Amino acid sequence: MQDDYQKTLEEAQTKIGACADATGLKAIEREYTGKDGVVQALLASIPSLPPEERRGVGQGANQLKQAVLEALAGRESELAQVSLAAERKGEGYDPTLPPAAVQRGSLHPVTMVMREVEDLFQSMGYSVLDGPEVELDYYNFEALNFPPDHPAREEYDTFWCDREGKLLLRTHTSPVQIRTLERLKPPIRAIVPGRVFRHEELDASHEHTFHQVEGLVVDEGVTVGHLTGTLKSFLRELFQRDLDVRLRPGYFPFVEPGFEFDIRCPFCEDGCRVCSKTTWVEFCGCGMVHPNVLRAGDVDPEKYTGFAFGFGLDRLVMLRYGIDDIRHFMGGDLRFLEQF
Ligand code: PHE
Repeated sequence: MQDDYQKTLEEAQTKIGACADATGLKAIEREYTGKDGVVQALLASIPSLPPEERRGVGQGANQLKQAVLEALAGRESELAQVSLAAERKGEGYDPTLPPAAVQRGSLHPVTMVMREVEDLFQSMGYSVLDGPEVELDYYNFEALNFPPDHPAREEYDTFWCDREGKLLLRTHTSPVQIRTLERLKPPIRAIVPGRVFRHEELDASHEHTFHQVEGLVVDEGVTVGHLTGTLKSFLRELFQRDLDVRLRPGYFPFVEPGFEFDIRCPFCEDGCRVCSKTTWVEFCGCGMVHPNVLRAGDVDPEKYTGFAFGFGLDRLVMLRYGIDDIRHFMGGDLRFLEQF
């Protein structure tokens, strides 16, 4: 009996010694110590043996198992030594193998168009400014000529940050008009791209967080002609062609006169889904800076005039790339983002 174990063990040791890789060793381990292995078969035979033989077979099986596992462990560390030595000598090093692929991110489509807009205005001599997203009621409304309880405040579904009604998430980028007038002296030529927030009913064209680009120009002798000329040059560069535009009267307390600035639909000639069959697309609100706003920024309205505009960036990005739902922008779906 003892001889049988010895023979089985020697067989196993020979196989292990001849094996040169980890998968092979795993297979041998299974063959001897696995569920259907040699050792298990010996143990399973015990109940059918005469009682005086049972103990010996049990011990033999366990010793066999131990010895096989030791041989396996020994061979494994031998193989590790060999491969380490080979690596140190530079064997198997192939400098022509391609490197592991690096996963690169890409810019968000809103970021891409935002940068393009910044470049275009910078080429016209504008500075790119910034302002806080959590804003004081004073800058978001009051200094922009919305007194407390003014009905125009209803146009902006505001997220309030405190119970006193002093702090809010800015509903537009216009508060930076006041901050800019406070800090800089005319002549001023600036745009302010940034995130804005409104408590909207969410659907394919409304998000609680979106992007605007504010424009502010203040100098002596600035007129509505400068306003339309600037927006037309900007749009010509952006769409690479001349688009018809029109001004309609529009009300914003911080401009006077105030306008809605429309562009001829860039996608059709006789009406489509994008322009709701009207051939016009609303582009932005704009107008001449209200004297009260200039005063709030300590600029003399007798000496200086200015224009301001504010357009939504997200819609422009949607027009540009044919995106049909604004909620994709913040959905975090990589399959959407990887397309840009
Ligand atoms: N801030 C306005 C809005 O969000 C747009 C605007 C900006 C209008 C500047 C006039 C001048 O609706």
